[in-house]
Amino acid sequence: MPNVVIVGAQWGDEGKGKIIDFLTEESDIVVRAQGGNNAGHTVIVDGEKHVLHLIPSGILWPDKTCVIGNGVVMDPVSLVGEIDGLRARGRAITPANLLLSNRAHLALPIHRALDRFREARLGAAKLGTTGRGIGPAYADKAHRGGLRLADLMVPKDFAAKFEPKVEETNELLATVGLEQLHFADECEKLLEAGEKLAPHVTDTAVFIHRQLKAGKSLLFEGAQGSHLDVDFGTYPFVTSSSTIAGGACTGAGVGPHAIDRVIGVCKAYTTRVGSGPFPTENEGFSDKLHALGREFGATTGRPRGCGWLDLVLLRYSAIISGMDELAVTNLDGLDDFDTIPVCVAYELDGQRLETPPVRIEDWERVTPIFEDWAGWRQDISSVRRWQDLPANAQAYLDRLSEALELPIRMAGVGPDRLQTLVR
Ligand code: IMP
Repeated sequence: MPNVVIVGAQWGDEGKGKIIDFLTEESDIVVRAQGGNNAGHTVIVDGEKHVLHLIPSGILWPDKTCVIGNGVVMDPVSLVGEIDGLRARGRAITPANLLLSNRAHLALPIHRALDRFREARLGAAKLGTTGRGIGPAYADKAHRGGLRLADLMVPKDFAAKFEPKVEETNELLATVGLEQLHFADECEKLLEAGEKLAPHVTDTAVFIHRQLKAGKSLLFEGAQGSHLDVDFGTYPFVTSSSTIAGGACTGAGVGPHAIDRVIGVCKAYTTRVGSGPFPTENEGFSDKLHALGREFGATTGRPRGCGWLDLVLLRYSAIISGMDELAVTNLDGLDDFDTIPVCVAYELDGQRLETPPVRIEDWERVTPIFEDWAGWRQDISSVRRWQDLPANAQAYLDRLSEALELPIRMAGVGPDRLQTLVR
């Protein structure tokens, strides 16, 4: 199996977890290289539903090694909760199957408080973050004031570095009357988590390097999506990490030549959670999917906005990650239509745009140009072979593949492992 990077091609929640879980069988090591517990991957195995935030979904395979790389911002207490949850379900989590980068920055209670503070200050213009402190944690890293997992491994030094950060945050919180953080309590919780994580902490870049030398294969599990990327997304309505394929290199410490293949994942339609532009959003379609119990966020439970497939987004995602292939999930979400609108370009001030604008003000003004593609009006969730998909569902995928000049080899018709069809 080649070394593969999986990236979300839209605004996150593309169903990457399911594709990753499917591909894990053929790889040895699964790596998370960016983001934090803002991510939520839902994987259903043998009817049992697992929601993972930081730990790669490869953990559900007994003989795979999972790595959380340096590019991730890690909330230690939440991570311990995730480990305990998996253990309670009989999954073994050991230093042999879960490794944590000593260079990963910590997402701390101060960052969560600052996340809330900044969102409150923005009022109606808020970013709609997950509230997990992701932006402030990455800002602290870039600002050179962050604390890393390696720091948490030395309790006395950690406490000495953490205390002034809590004081500084409390001063800020006091200006708007927000609840103060209690240093001693927070520090104790973090150190307790640190102690539990200690056996897993190592220089993961060196580990990965040795594994590559030994001929093992890597699967990079992207979190969020290309249009939430801090450079290429709908800035400022983005997350704070590099969600595109290149993020795998910096977030894990591997050279670009180590990556053989980039697979983009998109839904057969589009969703977005949080604030920001969404040209193809459609209220009727959102209501329809929500009524079916679909499209509620795995991390925050928020209903996701839903809309039609947007080729402008996908075209750009393919460019910025150098995609070799596209996997399409949730095809069954379109089961109930005679025709399906698909956005092939935007119009802005009389101009046709094939790729997205830059400024958020222009993003807010674009009008989607739709084509109607034929629907199949048939429940496809029990289909198990590509050739058994209705002809119009196959044609939908073929037309998409042609429009993007990317092969589509995998399609999802439901959340279970068995509901991934391969051409
Ligand atoms: P943050 O990452 O919590 O700072 O949130 C910034 C934006 O990214 C918000 O619009 C979030 O809803 C969105 N976001 C963050 N993580 C995910 C994800 O895993 N799926 C979908 N949206 C996400």
